Amino acid sequence: MFVRQLLAFSSVSLLILQSLSGQNASPTPPVERSNPWPAAAASPAQPQITFNSVHVDGHYIALTFDDGPHKTLTPKLLDLLAAHHMKATFFVVGQCVVDNPDILKRAVREGHEIANHSWSHPNLGKMSDEAARREVQKTDDAIFAAIGKRPTLMRPPYGSITARQKRWLHDDFGYRIIIWDVDPLDWKRPGPSVVTSRILKETHAGSIVLAHDIHPPTLEAMPATFDQLDRKGFKSVTVTELLAMATPEPPKPKASPRPAAIPAASPGAIYVPPVTTSTPGG
Ligand code: NI
Repeated sequence: MFVRQLLAFSSVSLLILQSLSGQNASPTPPVERSNPWPAAAASPAQPQITFNSVHVDGHYIALTFDDGPHKTLTPKLLDLLAAHHMKATFFVVGQCVVDNPDILKRAVREGHEIANHSWSHPNLGKMSDEAARREVQKTDDAIFAAIGKRPTLMRPPYGSITARQKRWLHDDFGYRIIIWDVDPLDWKRPGPSVVTSRILKETHAGSIVLAHDIHPPTLEAMPATFDQLDRKGFKSVTVTELLAMATPEPPKPKASPRPAAIPAASPGAIYVPPVTTSTPGG
């Protein structure tokens, strides 16, 4: 009993101390927030900002293509996507957008989504906030100039981003951060058939598939990839459409004192690439 009282007392004192030190540590006026209870920011009720994949009912996936638009390859890809009735999301590099605005216009006309992949493809996680913000803003503006609409999704190059950057990308730009769960490493140019087989092997319902529309072998891999995804019943939609389809994950089984048997395969497993260090993908 005494222990419990002591614990309760110490947690109350801790709270008081925390609020006092919080007041002392903030000489600047408080930043206006839509959420009046900052402590709730860490609660699970907060909307999710970062996505590697989405839990959906049905065989929906999102094919994403990074680092373009490319003058000749992106139009070729648009032809292939149209022929296979697939929708894709293009994470574009701002400095390529200014050279190819008509390709973006066509992509939007054909039902695809345009998203922000920075201006010059740097490692944002290693940059100052100010420099990173310029990369994002310039691209946001270039996309708006090309298609008359601002993007709502952002993918940091290499998947590299800090927690603080994520926060302001969401709070100030309204972005959701899109990573991926299927990475065929097509930028290493392992050959079209390898790219196809990797995508087919790793893709499951709700997957976000990463590829690059600036490498000719990636384009060569797409007809077979689309055919086989189609045969397996997968339908590609834009990332925003996939996010809108999200259904709650089934509750995790309660921990029992007896160790549960480990399933041979875990189809629900999601690959989470490191987001604070540089990875070659993206
Ligand atoms: Ni990239």
